[in-house]
Amino acid sequence: MSVSFRKLHPVFVGEASPIELRTVRDEATLAKIRAGLDEFAVLVFRDQPFADAEQLAFAQRLDGQLHEGTGSRVITKNRLGNEALADISNLDREGEIMQADDRRRQYGLGNRLWHTDASFRDPAGRYSMLHAKVVPPVSADTEYADMRAAYDSLPAETKTLIEGLRTHHSITHSRQILGFEYSQDEQDQLKGAIHPLVRIIPRSGRRSLYLASHQSRVIDWPIAEGRLLLRDLTEHATQRENVYRHAWRVGDLVIWDNRATMHRATPFDDAKYRRELRRVTTLDIAEPALVSAGS
Ligand code: OGA
Ligand code: MN
Repeated sequence: MSVSFRKLHPVFVGEASPIELRTVRDEATLAKIRAGLDEFAVLVFRDQPFADAEQLAFAQRLDGQLHEGTGSRVITKNRLGNEALADISNLDREGEIMQADDRRRQYGLGNRLWHTDASFRDPAGRYSMLHAKVVPPVSADTEYADMRAAYDSLPAETKTLIEGLRTHHSITHSRQILGFEYSQDEQDQLKGAIHPLVRIIPRSGRRSLYLASHQSRVIDWPIAEGRLLLRDLTEHATQRENVYRHAWRVGDLVIWDNRATMHRATPFDDAKYRRELRRVTTLDIAEPALVSAGS
């Protein structure tokens, strides 16, 4: 099956030509999609009639193993019954719009902070695939920022300063920014993970800034200096010229490379309108092709 991409933004994001991903099984087309992700970092596929099982199966064909720890597992049981299928909705177990004080809603509000998926885990998330099932009649968009362009446009002295730095990421950090409270037992289960601040993306070889609101500190730096550096970098990285805003249509599947982008949800009247999306994220482990190439 052939597929091509049209650039939707001056620095990144490709929109795919018509293709039905449910039926894509041939390695040549899957390789083309991976190459599209290397180039554009975010890919938009329109009119995908995925059922949950088909979305899960496609993600496995594209990138192997699925992440089961990207979401709110520690605070609540997944409404959809599968930890690999993140419930990105404002609906409760009965399928009704959640109450304002629902703990899952409070947790989900953290998606409005710039982040990359599952950076608080090791392995982190590689590709995320978000599918729109129900979208409000008002804008309830998702914004993406290109972290490769952000790295490239840093002053040379900043590039030198940050080379080799590592940072600690924790979901409790990003949630606590918004006043979300964890029990001691929950905190004990959510210790976070350490990752490099500058990443080199295999295949493309491009460098990117690995930033997220989950970041609590720079390793071996005083807390304040580390947090100020991360704030300055985030401000730089999320300037408007680096940001694409996706207006969802039902059936959209957006795939992004978490190593190369940050994203955030934008506000809408979530007490009034239903919004229902499902996300599958893959594990950022060595890709089979790379493993065998090295052995
Ligand atoms: C996600 C996410 C943002 C949104 O699914 O990982 O951050 O707009 N979603 O729902
Ligand atoms: Mn996310």
